[in-house]
Amino acid sequence: MLMLVSKDHHKKRIAKGFFVTGTDTNVGKTIITASLSQALINGGKRVIAIKPLASGCRIKDNKLQSDDALMLRQYSTNNNLLYSSINPFAFQDPVAPHLAAEKSKTKLSVDCIIKKTYHALTSNSDYIIIEGAGGWFTPINNQERIADLVRAYSYPVILVVGIRLGCINHALLTYQCMQKAKVKIAGWVANVVDRNMSYVLENIESIRLNIKASLLGIVPYIYRIKPSKVTGFLQVDKLATL
Ligand SMILES: Nc1ncnc2c1ncn2[C@@H]1O[C@H](COP(=O)(O)OP(=O)(O)OP(=O)(O)O)[C@@H](O)[C@H]1O
Ligand SMILES: [Mg+2]
Repeated sequence: MLMLVSKDHHKKRIAKGFFVTGTDTNVGKTIITASLSQALINGGKRVIAIKPLASGCRIKDNKLQSDDALMLRQYSTNNNLLYSSINPFAFQDPVAPHLAAEKSKTKLSVDCIIKKTYHALTSNSDYIIIEGAGGWFTPINNQERIADLVRAYSYPVILVVGIRLGCINHALLTYQCMQKAKVKIAGWVANVVDRNMSYVLENIESIRLNIKASLLGIVPYIYRIKPSKVTGFLQVDKLATL
């Protein structure tokens, strides 16, 4: 069990968890994170899903809020958490996080992201699922990347591969970097995001042959997708032992 020592020096229990990253932006990280959360909740677990940093946020109730974070909150057991605990860094510009942070004069670092999510990590859930931003090497600042954030959280990673043209290259590059970073890989999900993609199964097989981690599910292209339509394609039992 992971323990962190908070400011007041009381040891708090940190939930088990997963970090969800993707081969790119727009590959289905949010929909898969929400679906995994729903699947674990269906199995009787208490789960919180968070998005620590989000760009492209809109003003709602007088503050910047991310559609991703709002969706994840909807698929969490405890949806009373303060918005700032599930998305402490909400930027307006729809650009890479380090640029959006710079524009809004916010200091962004692995350390401050971990600190600001401490409350969510310790709020008595069985699992916390953290959605990254962009992909593996998306910058957080000029020195740190999502990869560094993953290592700092030290949760096993789930890689969402958006099945579209170019996905084999993106998947294998990401996988190689993950291996080099020596992070634990909980598994990967093949998520078909291009309705017109041909050779879908052949592409997935080409990736599977190169990735020594569980394929947690193949999610087909689904018109008007929502998490309840996805849970049946995911094998969360493969995550239970982690
Ligand atoms: N299997 C699918 N079938 C059809 N549409 C999908 C599928 N998966 C995702 N989508 C759609 O693709 C878009 C991108 O998905 P999503 O927002 O989950 O990606 P993301 O990786 O979280 O993006 P971001 O980098 O912005 O966080 C959404 O409009 C979503 O509804
Ligand atoms: Mg997202």
